Amino acid sequence: MAEQATALQLLDWYGRERRTLPWRSDNPDPYRVWLSEVLLQQTTVATVKPRYQKFLERWPDVLALAAASLDDVLHEWQGLGYYARARNLHACAQKVVGDHGGRFPDTEDGLITLPGIGDYTAAAIAAIAFGQDTAPVDGNIIRVISRLDAMDDKMPAGKQRVKVRVSELAPPGRAGDFAQAMMDLGAGICTPKNPKCDRCPWVSECRATKQDDPALFPRKAAKKERPTRYGVVFWLTDGDGRVHLRRRAEKGLLGGMMEFPSTDWLEAQEDDATVAGQAPLPTTVWHALDGEVAHTFTHFHLRLQVWTGQTGESRNLDNGVWVHPSDLGSHALPTVMKKVVAVIPL
Ligand code: ADE
Repeated sequence: MAEQATALQLLDWYGRERRTLPWRSDNPDPYRVWLSEVLLQQTTVATVKPRYQKFLERWPDVLALAAASLDDVLHEWQGLGYYARARNLHACAQKVVGDHGGRFPDTEDGLITLPGIGDYTAAAIAAIAFGQDTAPVDGNIIRVISRLDAMDDKMPAGKQRVKVRVSELAPPGRAGDFAQAMMDLGAGICTPKNPKCDRCPWVSECRATKQDDPALFPRKAAKKERPTRYGVVFWLTDGDGRVHLRRRAEKGLLGGMMEFPSTDWLEAQEDDATVAGQAPLPTTVWHALDGEVAHTFTHFHLRLQVWTGQTGESRNLDNGVWVHPSDLGSHALPTVMKKVVAVIPL
């Protein structure tokens, strides 16, 4: 009973205060919900809004997207990063058309079998597009619920408890609105720092507010020390001053993004002969630049030396392209590679 009142307070607030977002509708179209959720993976609402509109204008339904070329989809994706998401978007549209007659499966279990749809996205689409009683749980929702209950579980290990709690709270048939209400609460009110508790519909229910500083939730597991890895990146130019770029493997860190070739990134710096053996054209004369490029990823710090070299031949090297440095802007380089460009004396 108390749960029902708590849920209704949030839904009332959502009815009054919800953000107007182009993919929201009282009569949601699964294609639009799916497209928005895939775009929103690792990208902010502000960035996604205009890009979503462009995708929709170009490919108004799943049949149109499935019929598009992968190249066109990758091109439209430019600047959104993580290109594996664009490949999965296209593969998913083709699978929905090829295997499901153009209709998205309407359950979480069905949705999760599709490319690019993980736990969160499957639950979000099932709830928002199909009214299924399921609970998508992302970082925002973990923050809101862990504060509401002052959960001491360390996150992300306590995620399952958050999912159970959301399932208890969400009124049957309203899981989609309930999830989106928590997203809006997490984005605008129950923010990581300086939450605006005076404007929160749950302020009188919120245990974190009563017992402690809400910003201390969710509790996080102690961070592991990040190791440092080392490598050498090769800035190889041809006779026309174009630099060699290649595409990273689809799976794993920076999957599918462009990079300058480099050695493996290892926990100790390799000797020069071993490094030279991994260069894209081992016969080239290489010069090490002074200084290094430092970048921190989620799981490690990286320190890269930069070696420059020039070749007379610009034959196509494995999986690579030659690009004039002034055109690098159109290649959506990951930040670590932009840092490499910044140390090159151009
Ligand atoms: N983030 C992920 N999905 C979202 C949605 N449907 N609305 C707002 N923010 C989101």
